[in-house]
Amino acid sequence: MLNIALPKGRLGERVYNMFAAAGFECPALLENSRKLIFENEEAGVRYFWVKPSDVAIYVERGAADIGVAGKDILLEYAPDVYELLDMNTGICRMAVAAKKGFRDDPKKTLKVATKFSNIARAHYASRGRDIDIIHLNGSIEIAPILGLSDVIVDIVETGTTLKENDLEVIETVVPISARLIANKASFKFKGDDIERLTKHIAEQIKG
Ligand code: PRP
Repeated sequence: MLNIALPKGRLGERVYNMFAAAGFECPALLENSRKLIFENEEAGVRYFWVKPSDVAIYVERGAADIGVAGKDILLEYAPDVYELLDMNTGICRMAVAAKKGFRDDPKKTLKVATKFSNIARAHYASRGRDIDIIHLNGSIEIAPILGLSDVIVDIVETGTTLKENDLEVIETVVPISARLIANKASFKFKGDDIERLTKHIAEQIKG
């Protein structure tokens, strides 16, 4: 039995369809219900819907053999897992944004609001810029508007959230997409199944 953690939401449904097309079907999964675990014994697969930012925890600790997590989460938390494949979906970018017209004063410590403190720290360390991290859990875009921070480091997908809050991208930190990840021990013991699935999904991405 292959245990698979999927990110709850639209991305998870898209990803499930790729898994199903690779031969790991579990039709009950798409029925609207509050159930979180679905099994198809015949196909040898058990799926869990988990919070997207928790997928890597399930996989790292072996509660799931494989899963799909955003590169943002992998960079931020550096879980001890194998990254098998860029799934070429869930595409967005990690960016620095600020109020329109913002000019950085290098003499001052830059106040950075973000959910991704490690990514932000590494980004500014690489350019030797002194920063003060303000760690928030969501609605990051409000911080520069209220003067809580100078800039934000956050995910930008369509850019709508920034636009509607009069913010603009200053620079891209790193491109982001969904990645197929595997637990290290599972990769050893269930390697055949995992490799078969990875190969089929890679073919779908190419095709
Ligand atoms: C993410 C991100 C931005 C928004 C970007 O937020 O933090 O706020 O999506 O998307 P856009 O460029 O298409 O507007 P999410 O919905 O995950 O919520 P949260 O960060 O506020 O928790």
